[in-house]
Amino acid sequence: MKTKTRFFTGLKCRECGKAYPPDPIHVCGFCFGPLEINYDYEAIQPILTRACIESRPPTMWRYRELLPIEGEVTVGAYVGYTPLMKADRLAKQLGVREVWVKNDTVNYPTLSFKDRVVSVALSRAKEFGYDIVACASTGNLANSVAANAASAGLKSYIFIPADLEPGKVLGTLVYGTNLVGIHGTYDQVNRLCSEIGGRYKWAFVNINIRPFYAEGSKAMAYEIAEQLGWKLPDNIVVPMAGGSLITKIDKAFKEFTKLGLVSEHPTKIHGAQPEGCSPIINAVKEGTEIFRPVGKPDTIVKSLAIGNPADGYYAINTINRTGGYGENPCDQEVVEGIKMLAECEGVFAETAGGTVVSATRRLIESGKISRDESVVLCITGHGLKTKEAVDGHCGAPQTINPSLNEFEELLAQAKHA
Ligand SMILES: Cc1ncc(COP(=O)(O)O)c(C=O)c1O
Ligand SMILES: [Zn+2]
Repeated sequence: MKTKTRFFTGLKCRECGKAYPPDPIHVCGFCFGPLEINYDYEAIQPILTRACIESRPPTMWRYRELLPIEGEVTVGAYVGYTPLMKADRLAKQLGVREVWVKNDTVNYPTLSFKDRVVSVALSRAKEFGYDIVACASTGNLANSVAANAASAGLKSYIFIPADLEPGKVLGTLVYGTNLVGIHGTYDQVNRLCSEIGGRYKWAFVNINIRPFYAEGSKAMAYEIAEQLGWKLPDNIVVPMAGGSLITKIDKAFKEFTKLGLVSEHPTKIHGAQPEGCSPIINAVKEGTEIFRPVGKPDTIVKSLAIGNPADGYYAINTINRTGGYGENPCDQEVVEGIKMLAECEGVFAETAGGTVVSATRRLIESGKISRDESVVLCITGHGLKTKEAVDGHCGAPQTINPSLNEFEELLAQAKHA
């Protein structure tokens, strides 16, 4: 008898609830609401026990019944299960009881959490029979689609704002993709991609197969719960661009609770965006449910520079419903956040990580995160991809000739400095 491998039943509109088959579609034909994957939790519960999960290899696919592919994983089989690090030095610096760093800077293969969503998206794209995959990206998604498409033997087209960091551009080109830089903002890139998607039969990972793609983010939260010893944290701080990751973390915690894998615990889910592009945080601070899009993002945090976030409305709802809040540090604080994490914990994060650290500092100082609680920081991308952000902020090496005397002079000077 063939083992059952498909545990999702289809798609469902998040607004009106209308059901759809699990096809490459993302919008409800009746109310234009976004579509979401529906699972058969009764079938999953007896299979996906703690013992079953713990017996599987340390990748995000240990939760495969909760991820929307039909057969076995074909793209990104090694993604996930990144370290959850107890960050005591950072906790002391921030003045809070317990800090954990979920370190997706070492995710495989392209050093960001986007490898999670791409693994699901490309595995599902292959099941649909596509041979060309595509995306609109602020950088990390570009890296991941290019790498994973290369290893899967798929052709890829990738669209980015032309002014991305050189590390993100080179870290895409190296995989031999078709990279198109657009003179414009991410939102303009995305709009163009919707038009291209209407004309060509490609799997646009964050457009027509977005419902499948977005589910990959849940694995970050499943791992956190398991790595905390099958517990949910008091607080979690999540970087936001389109606002998808934060809503999927909420969904994942709810699913684990529903399946009895963790006990019910009220985690406050907080959001982080940079000051120069913070439509979701502005709405949270103003107490409104509707965000105002940012026309021209102006920040060094290019990975989070989405002015019109597709899941913005749901991200605001997640934050408010869970009792969370949000913060939007300025570029200088982003740099300070990158340095604080590096100096305290030896983790070099990209600008999105600096945004999370500084947002957390503000949330603790304002009392939104209580000093006697635990907090998990979602650190989603590696610092070598955005190294120009800290150029000129870390000093320079002291250079000497290869001479013991010169070294001792240098030591003596340091002592007197
Ligand atoms: C490093 C990093 N963190 C967080 C995010 C936010 O993801 P989302 O668009 O799901 O809000 C992104 C998105 O590009 C990213 O690149
Ligand atoms: Zn609908």
